Amino acid sequence: MRIPERIARIAPFLAMEVMERGQALERGGKSVLHLEVGEPDLDPPPAALEACRRALLEGRTNYTDSRGLPELREAIARDKQARSGVALDAERVIVSNGTSPALLLLFSALLEAGDEVIVPAPHYPCYPNFVRFCGGQPVFVPTRAAEGFVLDPDAVRAALSPRTRAIVLGTPANPTGAIQPREVLQELVALGVALICDEIYDGLVYDGARCVSALEVADADAEVFVLDGFSKRYAMTGFRLGYAIAPPAALRTLQILQQNLFISANEFVQHAGIAALREGTASVEAARRAYSRRRTLLLDGLRELGFVIPVTPAGAFYILADARAFAADSVALATRLLERAGVGAAPGLDFGAAAEGFLRFSYAQPEAVLREALKRMRPVLAELQN
Ligand SMILES: Cc1ncc(COP(=O)(O)O)c(C=O)c1O
Repeated sequence: MRIPERIARIAPFLAMEVMERGQALERGGKSVLHLEVGEPDLDPPPAALEACRRALLEGRTNYTDSRGLPELREAIARDKQARSGVALDAERVIVSNGTSPALLLLFSALLEAGDEVIVPAPHYPCYPNFVRFCGGQPVFVPTRAAEGFVLDPDAVRAALSPRTRAIVLGTPANPTGAIQPREVLQELVALGVALICDEIYDGLVYDGARCVSALEVADADAEVFVLDGFSKRYAMTGFRLGYAIAPPAALRTLQILQQNLFISANEFVQHAGIAALREGTASVEAARRAYSRRRTLLLDGLRELGFVIPVTPAGAFYILADARAFAADSVALATRLLERAGVGAAPGLDFGAAAEGFLRFSYAQPEAVLREALKRMRPVLAELQN
């Protein structure tokens, strides 16, 4: 089979590869603790489950308006408005089968072949791959632990070229947990290229931190796109529900793409989304408090094992740990931990060359699992330190 060149350049999603290998080991009878994927162990809000069940039984199993049910778009606009303090017209919301398809819509709408997209490194693995898939070229701008993984707008300015079409970033970010300050977002918007701000971890923040939304620093018609979804805050990964908030000038193009590529998000899942927004606030707050406790447990435990954690993550549910005391090759180290300790960790290489030598651990797991993982890793790591 002949693979198109732009597809051949897409790297495997290493965290998923570790998960799939771990599941194969489990099928063979081995116990595996999954700290590699960003998959909350908590349950979705009960109201969302009930609304989904009811919607299925009532036959809400059809296509909907490609942009989403009006009631859901209204609820999303109200929710985002409550979190950001910015008035938001529901017409600007496009509902999708997860944040990932929304990213695909945006890059499809924005990129000509050869256009460049600035991607801060370390980065969510899929960003550069979506860019490549749409014929674009990722341009990486490093962020440094010493600066809390905050993006330097001057470094972004230096990376701009006549082909630069967009900047894509996450805040709070996967894998660093960093929150981009308001001034940084303001400077990025002023650069005159489209800003795509992935806010899927908004709300999962600790120690009193607050995540500034890109909506707060831009006019409604600026080329600013915000992505968000239900996977993380509401522990609804498998429902596949997310959305983009776009400027009015882009809406028709995104609607046409959505009609053609995905038609619409699942109707019964959209009803679960409405219920989550209406009645899920307590579940989100309980999740945030649980993650906060787990974050402390895992930070202390990993440091005690000899990992160096240069930045305490302010949000999301990951710890990016420097593992160079044990090995330079993050894929080899993750493989060893999986095979020998039965502990899944995402190799730093997944997040770009800048994170090679690091491992990313997810603390979206019960405290007992985190404790057991730390216990299991100790002897395997001790061998490597000698
Ligand atoms: C930063 C970031 N964006 C997007 C996604 C994908 O989210 P969804 O489940 O909504 O497709 C993830 C999942 O891990 C993520 O970490």
